[in-house]
Amino acid sequence: MSITSTTTTGPVWTTTVDPDSEQFKTNDAASRQLASELHDRMSHVIDGGRDRSIKRHLGRGKVMVRDRIDMIIDPGTPFMELSTLAAFGQYDDVAPGAGIVTGIGVVGGIPFMFIANDATVKGGSLLPASIKKHVRAQHIAEEQQIGCIYLADSGGAFLPLQDEIFPDKDHFGGSFYRQARMSAMGLPQLSVVLGGCTAGGAYVPALSDEVIMVEGIGRIFLGGPPIVKAALGEVIEPDELGGADMHTRVSGVSDYIVQTEAEAYIKLREICATTAQRTIDNNQGWLDTIPAEPPVYNPEEIYGIISADARIPFDSREIIARMVDGSEYNEFKPEWGETLTCGFSRIWGHRVGILANNGILFSNSAQKATHFIELCEQRQIPLLFLQNTSGYMVGKDSEMGGIAKHGAQMVTAVANAKVPRFTVLIGNSYGAGNYGMCGRGLAPRFLFAWPNSRIATMSAETAQTVLVDIRVAGLKAAETTDEDIAKLRKEVGDQYEMHSNPYYATSRIWDDGLIDPVKTRDALGLCLSLAARQDAPNSGGIVYRM
Ligand code: COA
Repeated sequence: MSITSTTTTGPVWTTTVDPDSEQFKTNDAASRQLASELHDRMSHVIDGGRDRSIKRHLGRGKVMVRDRIDMIIDPGTPFMELSTLAAFGQYDDVAPGAGIVTGIGVVGGIPFMFIANDATVKGGSLLPASIKKHVRAQHIAEEQQIGCIYLADSGGAFLPLQDEIFPDKDHFGGSFYRQARMSAMGLPQLSVVLGGCTAGGAYVPALSDEVIMVEGIGRIFLGGPPIVKAALGEVIEPDELGGADMHTRVSGVSDYIVQTEAEAYIKLREICATTAQRTIDNNQGWLDTIPAEPPVYNPEEIYGIISADARIPFDSREIIARMVDGSEYNEFKPEWGETLTCGFSRIWGHRVGILANNGILFSNSAQKATHFIELCEQRQIPLLFLQNTSGYMVGKDSEMGGIAKHGAQMVTAVANAKVPRFTVLIGNSYGAGNYGMCGRGLAPRFLFAWPNSRIATMSAETAQTVLVDIRVAGLKAAETTDEDIAKLRKEVGDQYEMHSNPYYATSRIWDDGLIDPVKTRDALGLCLSLAARQDAPNSGGIVYRM
């Protein structure tokens, strides 16, 4: 080695390679040959499955797997594909890339691990090399602490080789284990369902934090129509059994329904943005603050939206739109459990997860609330509850549907949420709905009420019926006149009116103040700023200051 000059980082190497030498030329030709062979083999894999399968895939209006990834990642950013040649030379070469694409791509500035089935290869079913590739990608995601995006288009285990995929530690069960644990660690697990996801393939979206299904192509079932026919003798169409409409509007397995793949990827990018805090901001939670924007709609319009008659409902989303930055509200699971709206917004630049009643709480609304609270916990987003409900649904159907348990699970989720919680009574706050929606007993950091609000076990009208019935039953029927009953009704009504009045409540400090609805945004902005000055609950003791 000879030294010709020095720099601050060290000496510059002086080469002895002679590009004109025979040796160099021989090496060069051999290396180029190897590189070209590698490129050929890679492009064979990238071309996907057999021509017939590709034609059928495209004929269904579906996008090829790598083009899907290109549609999702930030334009102009690279995708680092892993193990492109997995399964090379195995399985009679019928499974290019093992029928699955894995790699790291950037979405909205955040790196994600992509795990995407290639449905043109054996219907996206997983061979032994595919499950190994899937699990390896999850292992990397966990080690690097990044979320996973699953583009699910898979027939589950490749049945002829099920013994090499199903039972052992790093087989299908191991991939579920990793997915569930990563979610609990706060690493987002997001799925887009783009094909028939059967059996093991169904659990990937089902285990995800948020699921988007594309109508017409996305299906989820534990057993497809042939299995159902064989097992139960039921003949059923695939979409009826597990289509996007059924799963988004009936079963609730899916959170969003979209019409096209392009629409799905726009939605996915929106979801990725809500996960940004953890991954971008090093777990700083609600400190993620951006410059505030006023709502697009005039907050004074709130006065015209609140019903003068408390029995006439109003759409809480119209209130939210006049309270949050830019009137931007990214609604979670809008098609399911519609009597409770949940979604992400910002107030005075602070991110917030909002739960607002739009009617009585049914089992599905309660389950949605529990799911949404878990998401906010995972992403460390403070929670805002806007109460306007007559409580949980009663009746035979509800009891048989397990409303008591679903309500209790919602209360448990609220009680155990570590993120800051804030509550505003924007309308009625009756029955256990008060508890499930983070009433005083559930210890929100601040609880405000609007002057139109009412708080009690039940409305005055309901109480009149219930209490009068109970009291009349206790009196001797023969001695009870219509006049007595009318008097009793009036007494009960007046008492309930008085006790559920917001001034009665605030006088007894059941809240932290009655506020003018128009000022709610400012009050909450202050609460969020105060919370942001404190430790993030999962920050490992790091103290953040504004
Ligand atoms: N195991 C083995 N091969 C499978 C498979 C599986 N789980 N799923 C699909 N395939 C194969 C098919 O045999 C076919 O092979 P070929 O190209 O050699 O003919 C290819 O994948 C495409 O399947 P096909 O049914 O023609 O495609 P499709 O797009 O119409 O349907 C599925 C795709 C995944 C919806 C459908 O194949 C299916 O329901 N598969 C069975 C799923 C299942 O029951 N899994 C149980 C796992 S425990």
